[in-house]
Parts: sequence; structure tokens; C-alpha cells
Amino acid sequence: MSDCSTYIESNRDRFLEELFELLRIPSISADPAFASDVERCAQMVANQLTAAGAMQVEIIPTEGYPVVYGECMVSPEAPTVLVYGHYDVQPADPLELWDSPAFEPVIKKTELHPEGAIFARGACDDKGQFFMHVKALEAMVQSDALHCNVKFMIEGEEEVGSAHLEPFLEAHKEKLAADIVLVSDTGIISNEVPSITVGLRGLSYVEVEVTGPNRDLHSGLYGGAAPNPINILCEMIASLKDEDQRITVDGFYDDVVELSREERTAMAEAPFNESEYRKSIDIGAVEGESGFTAPERMSIRPTLDVNGIWGGYMGDGAKTVIASKASAKISMRLVPNQDPDQITELFMKHFERIAPPSVKVKITPMHGGQPAVTPTDSIAYQAASAAMESTFGRKPVPFRGGGSIPIVASFEQILGLKTVLMGFGLDSDAIHSPNEHYGVFNYFKGIETIPLFHKHFALMSQKQ
Ligand code: BES
Ligand code: MN
Ligand code: MN
Repeated sequence: MSDCSTYIESNRDRFLEELFELLRIPSISADPAFASDVERCAQMVANQLTAAGAMQVEIIPTEGYPVVYGECMVSPEAPTVLVYGHYDVQPADPLELWDSPAFEPVIKKTELHPEGAIFARGACDDKGQFFMHVKALEAMVQSDALHCNVKFMIEGEEEVGSAHLEPFLEAHKEKLAADIVLVSDTGIISNEVPSITVGLRGLSYVEVEVTGPNRDLHSGLYGGAAPNPINILCEMIASLKDEDQRITVDGFYDDVVELSREERTAMAEAPFNESEYRKSIDIGAVEGESGFTAPERMSIRPTLDVNGIWGGYMGDGAKTVIASKASAKISMRLVPNQDPDQITELFMKHFERIAPPSVKVKITPMHGGQPAVTPTDSIAYQAASAAMESTFGRKPVPFRGGGSIPIVASFEQILGLKTVLMGFGLDSDAIHSPNEHYGVFNYFKGIETIPLFHKHFALMSQKQ
């Protein structure tokens, strides 16, 4: 019997091909047209778990897309690790901006991935990342190196807000009983600077609609006196931030936890190169709330961003018209202790209040999610840190991320479990964007690191 890393090394091509198979399924949870693909993807995840050596594999229905469950129990004395991930992906639009089709994975070299990267929707977020755990399980089982009980819970609605997952946790508390949740759905600072995410932002997401006249009007006949909902929506949105780029929604910052000088100094140790950052997204300057650095603005500070805005004539050529309606989608990223429901309420009140009497405003809350912070003094964090230190040759830095994984807070609230966010993606992997990719280096680094996490976690749990 070979050892774990030899097993991984000798099965590299198959580990890639199996991921490719998963990536060929367009499991887009947001678009009902892909419903059968999402279901088919759940089936493939279940088959892959079984093939890797998991038992009790089930496709558990929810009110939405199913959760795939599987487990590998080695001993009642061993600690139990609950692996969470998602098999759904974001829509691939705009399709014309992909250099190769989104659901036909190919490996291409990039500047940051000289060994090649897998290009496909979901390659990094999150198929490539949760599948590392499936392959690591196979490697551990095949080399007799599994020392923790492992449970898998792979969901299909993360990209649309995990609306049915809290009831799922409530209904399956016993089945999901564990000592820690392990998630690979975040990133590292770079392939040279490993990091472990210790904070995620929350989210409040709303759609707003401003209605002016009861029909589209001739902009010459009516223009000047009739309220223009597009102009008004733009003014209202512009007023949501002041000259210091602070959000003006009344009460917005009331519950924000301010970090101490020491905590901010510790954060600043994570390397950040502003000119490289600017270059990587081709911008002239960074923006944001005064008094905070760019990494702080992206992690420990809340945001308000328009994600989409539309109204009026958007076809070819010119049409002289004052639209009846204008709309926008707005996201607010939240930090500890902000409550998404309360922020949504504050936003709604504020937005209604600032609307001029000439228009009507309709606000529809979309999904939300709680922020989360994860501890660095737990044995699970230490196990992840030790595992990454041996595979990267450098101790990972704790790092607060800007994205959201709403279910992480629910793991704590409902199951009483802390989470370790041991992800391997890069910010430049273009998740949610055209040409999403995941480094071959990162994929195998993850597969090598995960067994070491289990090994350290089992050992450290014993000593406790
Ligand atoms: N995996 C991401 C979140 C992420 C990525 C966190 C990188 C940290 C680093 C996740 O799939 C995601 O996209 N979450 C959504 C939230 C959801 C409610 C749609 C997000 O952050 O927009
Ligand atoms: Mn994800
Ligand atoms: Mn995502």
C-alpha cells in the first residue's frame, strides 16, 4: 500500500479528468432552465463520494436543490470533521467574454499559474475546491491514512443564498454532529503566501424600483416638468455615500465592531501591494472610506454597491424618452455585529425617506447572510496551519476575507460548530466572472494538504 502523497502523485491525471466531468455540468442554481443539470450534478457528486470510499451516501431533498451527504466513520473515539461545499455555480454570462466555453474545461497557462490552470465555470468556486476533499478522502482511504471521521455535506444553492439550508441543519442535527466544519471555498493571498481566512462578511441585498409617470413619455413634450425616475434613482443612489465615502443610511454603522489598533496592525502584516492590485484590475486609483487601508475596506468595513441598474431605452440608436420606471440591485456587505435583517430594514426606511414626492419607491429584499469570524486559537485552526505550513513551506497568515458564505454563521448557531476556512483559490481566479479558473498547482496543493489537516487534527484532539 502506497502512502497518501504517492497515491495522489500516481493518480494525478484521473483526479483532473474526474473534476473535468463535474465541470462539464452547467449546475447553475440561479436559472431554472438548468434545473435538471443541477439535479444531475448532485447525482454525480453522490457517485463520486461513493467511489472515493464514503458510506451512507444520500441525495437528501430540500425545498430547493438537494444536499449530497456521505460519511466515512473510522472510530467512535476519533474526532469528526464535517466538510461543507457547494456543487452549484454562478451563471456563465456574459458568454461572449469567455475565451473558451464555460462548461468545456481546458488547462491553459497564465502568468500566475505557470503550471497551468483549469478554465471553467465552477473550477475554483466551488467544484474544484470541494472536490479536493473527495479526492483527499480517496487517497486517505486507499493508503489507510484516515484518522478522523469525515462527513460530507455538499449543497446546491450557495450561489443563490442557501435559503433551504438552515431548515436542513435543524432537521439533521444528529446526522451532522461533528467537532469542526472544514470548508474550502475561499482563497489564499498568493501561491507563495498561504493564508487562512478567519472572517467573512455578511450580506444584505435589495432591489429598488423608482416609478415616475405612469407611462414612458416623449422627453421633449414632457421633459423639464415630469420627474425622470432614472435621474432621480441616480441622485438617490449618489446620496447613499458622503464625501468620505461613508454610507449615509441612518444607523448603518451603529453595530459595527471597530477593530483595535493592535488588531489593525496585525492585519497589516498580510502583504498587500497596491500598485499590483491596481494593475491586476486595470484601475487608476483605489477608492473607499477615508481612514482605512484598501485591505481594511475589503474586509473589516461594510460596503454599499450597486450591482446592476437599468431603465429606459437600452436598444440601438437613440430614442427620446422619459422612462416610467428605473431599477437597481444593491448589495451591502456587512461586518460583525451588523444584522442583515436590521440593515435591510434601515435601508428600506432610509430609501423611502429620501425619495422625492414626485416618485413612488418599491424595495424588495433579496437574500442576506450573517457575517462570521473564526477563531485562530482552536486546535482545528492550528491543524490547518500546520498542514499548510508543511505543504507550502511557510506558515499561513490569518486573513479576513471580503466575501460571504452565509451558512458559516448558521453552523455555529444551529449546530454549535466552529468552521475552518481552508481555501486554496486566488483572487485573480475570476470567480463569478468570465474565464474563471483554478490553478492545477492549487488543486493538488489542496489535495495534499487536506490529509495533513486530518492527521494533525486527530493527533491534537487526542492530546486535549
Ligand atoms: N465562495 C464564495 C465566497 C468567497 C469567495 C468568500 C472568496 C471568500 C473568498 C461564495 O460562493 C460566494 O460567492 N458567496 C456569495 C454570497 C451568496 C449569498 C450569493 C458572495 O459572496 O457574493
Ligand atoms: Mn463558493
Ligand atoms: Mn460564489
